[in-house]
Amino acid sequence: MKIIVARSEKEFDQRAAQIVAKQIIAKPTSTIGFATGNTTIGFHKELTEYSKQLNLDWSKVKTVNLDEFLGIEETSPMSVSYRMFEQLLDGTNIDKDNVLVPSTNIQLAEKTCREYATLIQALGGVDLQVLGIGSNGHIGMNEPGTPWTLDMHITDIAEKTREDKAPMWGGIDKTPKKGITMGVRLIMQAKTQLLMAKGESKAKAIRDTLRGDISTQVPASALQMHPDLIVLLDEAAASLLW
Ligand code: GLP
Repeated sequence: MKIIVARSEKEFDQRAAQIVAKQIIAKPTSTIGFATGNTTIGFHKELTEYSKQLNLDWSKVKTVNLDEFLGIEETSPMSVSYRMFEQLLDGTNIDKDNVLVPSTNIQLAEKTCREYATLIQALGGVDLQVLGIGSNGHIGMNEPGTPWTLDMHITDIAEKTREDKAPMWGGIDKTPKKGITMGVRLIMQAKTQLLMAKGESKAKAIRDTLRGDISTQVPASALQMHPDLIVLLDEAAASLLW
């Protein structure tokens, strides 16, 4: 495990962007797994900048998203799909056919659950998976207590997560209750994991994830068993580690 503690927000975003840029330079056909949330916004911006400055070639890169909210319009600016293009992919030369994001459509969700793992395999597996973390230790939408044996699955979003997300959605009533997510088993198959956390509200989850027992009550703690884990933190998120 490699832990990086960034001294500023700029450094945090740049370090993450450099890790992904390096992956694409080293292997132009990489499959990169992305996560959306507040944590990754600045990193997506930096990566867009690097893509322009370094002339990064995304034409053979494939991307996979971890999760999606169910029951909202695909075109909603709050959907994972919309945010991925707006924040990052529109600023690259990626081929849209190489972008795999689950649908927001509940009717399609069961089909997506059946197909997603096979589709990822067809892309050659995920080389580098970017992960955020919930204040309760969730990764993707795997909330505490979710079995780690699941691949793609439909999930109920925990009350705690809905409360954390409510300001972004304009209130708890507007915050989705259901999502579709890669399960821990599927996430763990990525060759390299990049776990990112910013802010004091993530400090306990980071301590429990990296220093606590490996337990389904802390979904991210599965990553302790991963052979190639990079953890990128700001000082506040790292504050309970040492
Ligand atoms: C969400 C997403 C995760 C994300 C995490 C952290 O629920 N499903 O993929 O990484 O929570 O979000 P944020 O970065 O906004 O704190």
